[in-house]
Amino acid sequence: DMQVIILDTPEQVAEKSAQWVTEVIKQKPAAVLGLATGSTPISLYELLVEQYRHGDLSFADITTFNLDEYHNIAADNPQSYRSFMQKQLFDHVDIAPSRTYLPTCSSEQNPRLQGEAYEQKIKDKGGIDLQILGIGANGHIGFNEPTSSLSSRTRIKTLTKQTLTDNSRLFGQGEFQPTMAMTMGIATILEASYVLLMATGENKASAVKQMVTGPLNAMCPASALQLHQHAVILIDKAAASEL
Ligand code: GLP
Repeated sequence: DMQVIILDTPEQVAEKSAQWVTEVIKQKPAAVLGLATGSTPISLYELLVEQYRHGDLSFADITTFNLDEYHNIAADNPQSYRSFMQKQLFDHVDIAPSRTYLPTCSSEQNPRLQGEAYEQKIKDKGGIDLQILGIGANGHIGFNEPTSSLSSRTRIKTLTKQTLTDNSRLFGQGEFQPTMAMTMGIATILEASYVLLMATGENKASAVKQMVTGPLNAMCPASALQLHQHAVILIDKAAASEL
């Protein structure tokens, strides 16, 4: 069942998300969290860091799996999702570095084998308890671009023009922008026990509408969440403006 919660502001979306993540960690200190990058969850991570600093929260036994990572990018490249996660969350809390996973794949590695190994690692850790998601303006989740199979698993994807354009703001003039990524598949995401999708701002309104009220449809990968038993869609008024 898909539960849609509409709050007034992006700040409230972040607060409610942080509350939920905190509850999960308190209930299960060794929880497995699925994490997302993008600008939307940054404020969630800020709140989690704040709570850690106040001594209210520990990540000491937490394991994390990120949704996606650029293909063939060095971990220490400032544009890598590894760098993003270090900067936004991992460097500021007591998480064990060895328990933070991203689906990496260099050009020397076989993407199929890397994808399978990532899936296996998730299984070995007992599966994802709570998966955090954002949504692309074209309805993508992770880097599952439109036309992604509902039964897809962690694999390599070529990014669409729209996604490259949407994300180009994050790259400097002349800076290399990767065009391929490894991403959890839609089936991978659907296996998480709970899913929390955050969306804010008017540029997400059309994707949110398709996800929530549209048909289950490979052109809007996020619509696959309609199949999930426990998916919560936390959005602000602007993102809900087309509902
Ligand atoms: C990125 C990420 C997604 C993210 C989405 C939206 O490309 N791969 O995981 O949810 O696009 O990003 P933002 O939150 O910056 O709008």
